[in-house]
Amino acid sequence: MTPSSSVVRFERLTGLLAEWYPVWSVEPFQCIQPPWASFRVKRTGVFRSDAATLARWLPVEQLADLIDLQRMPAVAAPPPERWGHGVGGRKWRQIVAFAARMHIAPGQSVVEWCAGKGHLARTLARSHGTPVTGLESDARLCREGQALATHQGVSLHLQEQDVLAPDVLRWLHPETHVVALHACGDLHLRLLDLAAHTGCAISLAPCCYQRTVHERYLPLSQTGRELAGRHALVLTRQDLALAVQETVTAPRHAQRQRRRAKAWRLGFDLLQRELRGMDESLSVPSLRYGDLPVDFQGFCRWAAAEKQISLPPIADWTAREAAGWRRLEEVERLEQVRHLFRRPLEVWLALDRARRLEEAGMRVDLGSFCDREVTPRNLLLRASRG
Ligand SMILES: C[S@@+](CC[C@H](N)C(=O)[O-])C[C@H]1O[C@@H](n2cnc3c(N)ncnc32)[C@H](O)[C@@H]1O
Repeated sequence: MTPSSSVVRFERLTGLLAEWYPVWSVEPFQCIQPPWASFRVKRTGVFRSDAATLARWLPVEQLADLIDLQRMPAVAAPPPERWGHGVGGRKWRQIVAFAARMHIAPGQSVVEWCAGKGHLARTLARSHGTPVTGLESDARLCREGQALATHQGVSLHLQEQDVLAPDVLRWLHPETHVVALHACGDLHLRLLDLAAHTGCAISLAPCCYQRTVHERYLPLSQTGRELAGRHALVLTRQDLALAVQETVTAPRHAQRQRRRAKAWRLGFDLLQRELRGMDESLSVPSLRYGDLPVDFQGFCRWAAAEKQISLPPIADWTAREAAGWRRLEEVERLEQVRHLFRRPLEVWLALDRARRLEEAGMRVDLGSFCDREVTPRNLLLRASRG
């Protein structure tokens, strides 16, 4: 993507996200009827959503074009499978795909940002035959990762370091290449800022944009601030969470259990609105699936006790559970509408990050590094001064 084409994409996405904000920003779980249902979409039949219906009323094709980022070509041979010993299967596939797209220039030193046990750092140290430093704040992860590297005879140094602390600068120089796989919110924002100031190269797969101290999103780039201002696009921390809400499909039995838990929550939500006489959702704590009561009535008794609501004798539990399942179907259809804007929001946030570095004089590439089945957080941003 050239800088000018990325700005055009950024501008179009800003316009669409702003125009459709009332539709995608409302969480269907929270309100019985989304505010927009009364003014436009109710008449149009989006409630009966299927792909064709969605495309009649929503900018499906425009969004699909704007989120179509290229897969970055591999520039290095994939590491041998046996190096993945001790790394979870999916994490290893992410590392293989990420490492194959790392171009480490001669003379560059490599640093991994928020390294965990340093699985990526260890793989890069092995494949490039170069010492790598991993920065990680959790001392236990540093110790365990260090032991793994020593056992494999790999030249990796895992350093206990808070990347938000001022002394992190000692690890970053113009000849440093910082790699960051799934660094969350403010942790990767810090990296972008330091890269812009020090000129170090970065390869970053961003994650968890909503993990930030800021209640409202302040675009990082001048372009982002100007576009958001022009289109009156104001994003809250809760809006940002949509960008990472896609999860890789769970096994069928887990999906069934998840749907049942959702239907029961929605059934309880209808009941508590009636009992409290308030048209307002209540946040009920989450439960591990193994701890879910055996039936809907048991679930409501547990939830009511949690929220200190006294349950009167209820005769029609079956009908009330059925109402929860009907609500679930409605919520799922509304979520289809909302999720149409998920990837566009994620790409918009990534474009803002890319522009931040372009504006600091860096050359930037943005694309994907693997299929979404390997990880839905598959955007890769590479930037360097050269
Ligand atoms: C989402 S994990 C990613 C780990 C690894 N890169 C991976 O892909 O598996 C984020 C890591 O950041 C670390 N972390 C959190 N806050 C940090 C901070 N302030 N400084 C350094 N590391 C931090 C966490 O301990 C965790 O290991």
